Amino acid sequence: MEITFGNTSFLLIFSLLLCMCSGCHGCMDEERDALLQIKDSINSPEGTAFSSWYGEDCCQWEGVQCNASTTRVSSIFFNYRRESSLFENWYPNATLFAQFKDLEILHLPGNQIAGFTSPEELHSLKRLQRLNLQDNSIENASRLCWGKGALPSLYYLDLSRNNLQGFIPECLRDSLLLKQLILFDNHLHGKISPCLSNMTALQYLDLSYNQFSDSVPIFPFHNLPSIYTLILSSNNFRGKFSFSIFANLSRLSHLDISYNPYLELKTESRIWLPSIKLIELSLAGCNLRKVPRFLSSGSNLMTLDLSDNLLEGNIPSWLMHNATLQLWVRRNNFSGPFPKTFGNISSRLTSLDISDNSFYGPLLEDIHLIFPELLHPSASYNGFNGGIPPSFGRLKRLQSLDLSGNKLHGEIQYLLTSNTSRLQYLSLHDNNLRVDALPRNLSFSKLELIDLGINDFTGNLLDSLSWSLLQSPTLPQLRVLILRGNHLEGQIPRRLCQMRHLEILDLARNNLSGPIPDCFHNITSWIDFSRGYYISALDLSSNRLTGSIPVQITQLKTLMVLNLSHNKLFGELSPELTKLTDLESLDVSYNKLFGELCPELTKLTDLEVFNVAFNNLSGTIPVGNQFDTFMADSYVGNPGLCGNPLSRKCGVVVEKPPKRNGNVHLSNMATANKLIFPCILFMPVINFVYLGGLI
Ligand SMILES: *[C@@H]1O[C@H](CO)[C@@H](O)[C@H](O)[C@H]1NC(C)=O
Ligand SMILES: *[C@@H]1O[C@H](CO)[C@@H](O)[C@H](O)[C@H]1NC(C)=O
Ligand SMILES: *[C@@H]1O[C@H](CO)[C@@H](O)[C@H](O)[C@H]1NC(C)=O
Ligand SMILES: *[C@@H]1O[C@H](CO)[C@@H](O)[C@H](O)[C@H]1NC(C)=O
Ligand SMILES: *[C@@H]1O[C@H](CO)[C@@H](O)[C@H](O)[C@H]1NC(C)=O
Ligand SMILES: *[C@@H]1O[C@H](CO)[C@@H](O)[C@H](O)[C@H]1NC(C)=O
Ligand SMILES: *[C@@H]1O[C@H](CO)[C@@H](O)[C@H](O)[C@H]1NC(C)=O
Ligand SMILES: *[C@@H]1O[C@H](CO)[C@@H](O)[C@H](O)[C@H]1NC(C)=O
Ligand SMILES: *[C@@H]1O[C@H](CO)[C@@H](O)[C@H](O)[C@H]1NC(C)=O
Ligand SMILES: *[C@@H]1O[C@H](CO)[C@@H](O)[C@H](O)[C@H]1NC(C)=O
Ligand SMILES: *[C@@H]1O[C@H](CO)[C@@H](O)[C@H](O)[C@H]1NC(C)=O
Ligand SMILES: *[C@@H]1O[C@H](CO)[C@@H](O)[C@H](O)[C@H]1NC(C)=O
Repeated sequence: MEITFGNTSFLLIFSLLLCMCSGCHGCMDEERDALLQIKDSINSPEGTAFSSWYGEDCCQWEGVQCNASTTRVSSIFFNYRRESSLFENWYPNATLFAQFKDLEILHLPGNQIAGFTSPEELHSLKRLQRLNLQDNSIENASRLCWGKGALPSLYYLDLSRNNLQGFIPECLRDSLLLKQLILFDNHLHGKISPCLSNMTALQYLDLSYNQFSDSVPIFPFHNLPSIYTLILSSNNFRGKFSFSIFANLSRLSHLDISYNPYLELKTESRIWLPSIKLIELSLAGCNLRKVPRFLSSGSNLMTLDLSDNLLEGNIPSWLMHNATLQLWVRRNNFSGPFPKTFGNISSRLTSLDISDNSFYGPLLEDIHLIFPELLHPSASYNGFNGGIPPSFGRLKRLQSLDLSGNKLHGEIQYLLTSNTSRLQYLSLHDNNLRVDALPRNLSFSKLELIDLGINDFTGNLLDSLSWSLLQSPTLPQLRVLILRGNHLEGQIPRRLCQMRHLEILDLARNNLSGPIPDCFHNITSWIDFSRGYYISALDLSSNRLTGSIPVQITQLKTLMVLNLSHNKLFGELSPELTKLTDLESLDVSYNKLFGELCPELTKLTDLEVFNVAFNNLSGTIPVGNQFDTFMADSYVGNPGLCGNPLSRKCGVVVEKPPKRNGNVHLSNMATANKLIFPCILFMPVINFVYLGGLI
């Protein structure tokens, strides 16, 4: 008791002390009032945002931070707070923010802000350092301009993803201390020059995804002596372009001029001084026909992107010199053998992407000696042939490997050794690979994606693969398993259902037999809505699967694609399929299904593909919603189906002689009843009544 009491009083004194220092009564009245007015304004007229804002101490409110010693609000983070169902723009009254005299950080992204009412009121924010208005609806910069000399501490301004039109807002040039200016993804065009000419403090400038059409040489780079990162990609800059215009930017280290299709880069100059300093350079999508010469004169370049150009011939080995860490030459027309360094010196490359070129010949025999640091090699869609050398299995840091779309053949077990246990992503799609026996003691606790589709894998690979994967101490992280287009045989192992994170399972076009496992509802990513990276899909089409469609499939609420076509499935199509409300594609064609199509299926309003052709279904085709858009090929080959879009009318009984009008009417009713009946059976309440009747 004594001890407890002692502790309590100590805590009490401690808290009192804390109060005296930091003000336990929380924030200033006028700041709290201003916050409440913002709350009223943000979702006006009926706001639901900030329901957690109550109590005196606004410093404790979500999204609000105070300076501990002054108890004044220092940071405001209102990210994506305005209800997106309110389509109207918001023009917050800048006077509300003017109350926060010590405000340093104001983040208001994603709130449909079109500008401020009385923007000049922002001038009282003398300490504001960071202003983030990303992803709003600002069109007219004059709704933003706070006037000359205002915001003297501002060094970070993010206006990306708005609708700013025309030139860079003139008013920004008064923000002379601005170090980071982010304007990507607007509709800015024309010249850049006048606005930036006085921003001598600017270090980071992102103008990408706009429509600037200046000719680059007149860009006022000499006025940006502090610039460190310059991102000009995805614009319409035009004209002849020489790198010497950057010659005076001694601090420039990250330069991105990618995807400016009208630029004509001069590549012959050997000397470009800042290249010594440059760490990252992207020249992707610049119509390059030659690798720029200055890149060969010793540099510190760590990341070089030359993708999407017109480069051809052998890849120069100096591109892989020992400073470079990431080299991307995807989608060119380089040819010749797999790239390597001159004299087999080991390279420090961690990422190498040579996909979509015309390389050919065998893969590098000793890749683990030449590129020992590789994390992310990608050599897909070239003409490589031969086997995958054991050396690939010795790349100890390997996290992803993409060799799809080549002519590789032979075994793959060298890839799956204890040395490559960091592998997350493995794509060997579209080759002629096989595996005879997988080691049973694999440990791939990190694997998220395996794509071995369209190869020569045979037998019970699926069985041993799932067995091996489940040996990992942690639950396997596998999200995507693609084995389509192989020669797999045997049953689909129930063990697969233990892979709780599966989002895509594609076993189509194999020779699998037996029933569909009735445990897919154990795969939680198909049940709950906390969705991962990929679309969720189950494709078991074109096998020899038998039995009925397990009712557990109707629990896979997040499934978007379900393809069970071209099998030997038997039984009725459960009306509970209507529970799969996210379904966009449902294909059960070419099976032996019978019974009727439940009209409730029209509740699947996301359906874009629906195919039940070539079964033995009967009754009336559902009408309404998406079902009015499907064509006859969705239904053909079912002798008993009738109604639109088939030409067969319902209620016309072919075997019997034509009846009088009244009888035709009756038989129509009967058809309708028969149609609805199996659907009603599945509704729990009706089931109960029915059972009650039995008792
Ligand atoms: C809190 O405010 C005081 C006085 O204005 C200032 O000196 C201090 O740097 C601020 N503290 C923080 C963490 O911003
Ligand atoms: C902005 O707020 C201030 C103070 O509440 C008020 O005086 C002013 O009229 C408001 N401006 C507009 C345009 O509503
Ligand atoms: C922008 O707003 C100002 C002031 O409200 C107005 O004078 C100007 O015409 C507007 N500009 C455009 C392009 O709408
Ligand atoms: C740059 O600043 C100087 C001095 O403040 C001023 O005279 C000049 O007009 C400014 N230039 C531009 C383009 O804003
Ligand atoms: C680089 O600076 C020198 C000296 O200040 C100047 O003469 C030259 O015109 C500048 N070059 C460019 C491209 O701005
Ligand atoms: C790169 O290689 C050269 C010559 O082999 C060597 O002098 C230099 O130290 C190496 N640099 C790095 C960063 O490994
Ligand atoms: C790519 O280069 C090869 C020669 O290596 C050539 O035969 C082919 O036509 C080129 N393809 C294109 C699209 O330029
Ligand atoms: C590089 O290694 C290969 C064998 O992997 C060898 O045939 C070749 O001569 C070596 N090249 C040089 C320049 O040492
Ligand atoms: C793993 O790497 C080491 C060193 O490169 C090598 O000796 C060993 O054979 C490799 N193990 C496998 C299974 O490839
Ligand atoms: C698998 O087990 C065999 C024999 O028990 C052993 O030689 C091998 O190193 C193991 N491989 C892995 C990846 O653990
Ligand atoms: C499915 O989950 C249930 C309960 O979580 C478990 O008892 C059962 O063994 C699981 N079945 C499979 C095949 O994983
Ligand atoms: C499929 O497997 C069966 C045996 O289960 C075999 O008779 C048949 O030839 C296989 N079909 C193909 C296309 O491999």
